Amino acid sequence: MTRAPLATVLGQDKFSPGLVESLGEATEAAATASRAWFGRGDKNAADRAAVEAMRGVLAGAAFSGTVVIGEGEKDAAPMLANGELLGNGGVEYDIAVDPLDGTRLVAEGLPGSICVIALAPRGTMFVPTDAFYMDKLICGAVGRGVVDLRRSVAENLAALARAKRVDVGELTVVVLDKPRHAQLSTDILSVGANLRLVGEGDVAAAVQAAAGEVDLVLGIGGTPEGIVAACAVKALGGFMQGRLAPQSSEEATRATRAGHDLGRILELDDLVNSDEVLFVMASVQ
Ligand code: FBP
Repeated sequence: MTRAPLATVLGQDKFSPGLVESLGEATEAAATASRAWFGRGDKNAADRAAVEAMRGVLAGAAFSGTVVIGEGEKDAAPMLANGELLGNGGVEYDIAVDPLDGTRLVAEGLPGSICVIALAPRGTMFVPTDAFYMDKLICGAVGRGVVDLRRSVAENLAALARAKRVDVGELTVVVLDKPRHAQLSTDILSVGANLRLVGEGDVAAAVQAAAGEVDLVLGIGGTPEGIVAACAVKALGGFMQGRLAPQSSEEATRATRAGHDLGRILELDDLVNSDEVLFVMASVQ
């Protein structure tokens, strides 16, 4: 028997119950489809299964959606393509999809992957053309006016601890377990905070941070995942900043040519410029 995953929904009050239900169904269908590939060593097959299941449900949903954040561009994985139109008519929305965040986790039979869709009014999401990586700082509402991507890790952790009236040693910071984060991890540990390294999946980590289940998310992850995460942070009333962080000179050149300012701090409203945001996710395992 296949267990049906239950979707987690944030921000549903401003959307029609039928649309919320369709998005829940789409993420659950994606989670069920990708679970068939759990521990089978093929992350592209898992991703493709999730994309096809999600697209199938969204095609019949009561809205007029344009995919502005499709997933897969940076590694040529199967994707719900940017610009793709979904739904059978109705209110116009931008859609950000991450049909399977944590493809490697599914392939390797590890927990933690999720299937996600976010919606916001048409034209309100940041369009990250040719900018695949973003530096992110995410926490609960308590971090507003307290932490800032321009400050050092030590300064931010000290300020956050003060605002939360705890010792730095009581803070937990989630970081993607990637070689590029060696110095960041050292910086976190050297001030006495707790480091939680996760193999993949900074969207799920963002939800936890905005909901106050962990204190902070730091580090570089995908830009599309950053926009998806921003929708969750908006719906939860949390705090987030991003800054594009190309991981090669080619990516930097392309991102600059696409018109991005690589030094700019992207505030939450720059990432999604509306409070009418719906975020739906289902866990694979
Ligand atoms: P995928 O499942 O789409 O590969 O994404 C997993 C993920 O860990 C994201 O959560 C994160 O933003 C991104 O990959 C980081 O990219 P990279 O693995 O290239 O460092």
